[in-house]
Amino acid sequence: MPAERRTAARLPPPAGPKCRTREAPAVPGPGNPDDGAGGGAGARAPLGGSPDLLRAAFRRHPAGVAVVTARGGRLAGFTATSLTSVSAEPPLVSFGVGAASGSWAVIAETEHVGVHLLGEHQRELADTFARSGVDRFAPPTRWREGPEGVPLLESVPVWLVCRVVARVPAGDHRVVVAEVVAGDPAGPGRPLVHHDGRYNALRD
Ligand SMILES: Cc1cc2nc3c(=O)[nH]c(=O)nc-3n(C[C@H](O)[C@H](O)[C@H](O)COP(=O)(O)O)c2cc1C
Repeated sequence: MPAERRTAARLPPPAGPKCRTREAPAVPGPGNPDDGAGGGAGARAPLGGSPDLLRAAFRRHPAGVAVVTARGGRLAGFTATSLTSVSAEPPLVSFGVGAASGSWAVIAETEHVGVHLLGEHQRELADTFARSGVDRFAPPTRWREGPEGVPLLESVPVWLVCRVVARVPAGDHRVVVAEVVAGDPAGPGRPLVHHDGRYNALRD
């Protein structure tokens, strides 16, 4: 018997008049706009694609906070929430970097980058590496030279040294793909999380 007929034989009978799936549930629950759980999203008119829509969406998407560093003709580093684990074999990560940023000018040329996953004790460090017009590596920032000459920040939960394997144009950013070549995943602290424009710690 063909697969589709076998499947059809197990289906329940066609929906009769009792199955009025488009009617709002009588009591609060999933799918009811009154349940406070966002189940009424389908009732709102969608917004058109725009930078504002993207920002509004990602304000609601918690992300771990990272700092990416590099050494070219000078030191560079920036706070990033765009870091993503991409592949296990080979071990690849990616992050986005603003094409107009000072950091891109260095990362466009350098062979290796440092990737640091920040801890909840490092909000000030996250602020420092997002601030323009300051020396982000000056005290109180503590750092040392790591493998491949990459600047490594001290006291982070995780650091990785990665070899850049691709730089992909993507709108006003560049997506950098890099292979992990060294690291320490067992540093101190719990993750720093960015959500709704603020830094947070995990609740449990
Ligand atoms: C929470 C947070 C996340 C950020 N994530 C990114 C990111 O993923 N990519 C990026 O290019 N810039 C990101 N930025 C902005 C940079 O940290 C930094 O402010 C910017 O590169 C400054 O550019 P400059 O080096 O030209 O001064 C983020 C900033 C904050 C506060």
